[in-house]
Amino acid sequence: MAEIVIVRDKEAAGELVADHIAALVRENPEAVLGLATGSTPLPVYEALRPRLQGVDVSRVRGFALDEYVGIDPAHPESYRSVITREVVEPLGLNPELVRTPDGTPEGIEYHGEEYEAAILDAGGIDLQILGIGTDGHIGFNEPGSSFASQTRVKTLTEQTRRDNARFFDSIDDVPMHCITQGLGTILRARHLVLLAFGEGKAAAVAGAVEGPLTASLPGSAIQLHARATVVVDEAAASQLQRAAYYRYAFDNKPDWQGI
Ligand code: GLP
Repeated sequence: MAEIVIVRDKEAAGELVADHIAALVRENPEAVLGLATGSTPLPVYEALRPRLQGVDVSRVRGFALDEYVGIDPAHPESYRSVITREVVEPLGLNPELVRTPDGTPEGIEYHGEEYEAAILDAGGIDLQILGIGTDGHIGFNEPGSSFASQTRVKTLTEQTRRDNARFFDSIDDVPMHCITQGLGTILRARHLVLLAFGEGKAAAVAGAVEGPLTASLPGSAIQLHARATVVVDEAAASQLQRAAYYRYAFDNKPDWQGI
């Protein structure tokens, strides 16, 4: 079972996860971070900034989960731009060591394999940050994605395009296709940290954590991972059946275990 940590608000979640990531980077200056986009991980990146002051981050490597296919990488909402703006620049990472899947249509059939090879080359991902979509997707692995899937092109669901339309002028501007790490790719990371905030995520979180293991709810794949941490606020935790136990377990957790 994943470890569920119910926190007061997203700021508290950001601080908890940033403490852990900062410790990881201090211990291993070549740490490989799996980066997520969306609004959910932003409090983590914000809290990381002061914690990494004075820490050598020049060799930290990063791999984003996903990218839109056919979007101009310079578009402000390409995930390349988002990762540069929200993570690489504020944290002072070396942009050459932080990759996003290549969404250029030319040669797209090979970009998934190339991305897998790059992750392998880096020695695998130490800690993968994850958000979750309202339909339970992680990365852009929409319902029905195989638990064994690797980085590949997917078609976005209407719901995801609607959810993400807020970042574009209209839903018609949201790309139809994406290239995303697969569930199999994500499951190879050494530690998964899934975050979710707000009522709108409560059903997806409950399904991912307590529901059956099913490709219909891709986030449930985290149940297959030996080290998965789920950090949620009260609202996102509101449909969890065993919330009282998760609080009890976390409150009584030996300090040395961290998250
Ligand atoms: C997008 C991203 C996901 C993210 C999801 C939720 O679809 N590809 O990685 O988890 O949105 O976004 P938000 O965190 O803004 O709710």
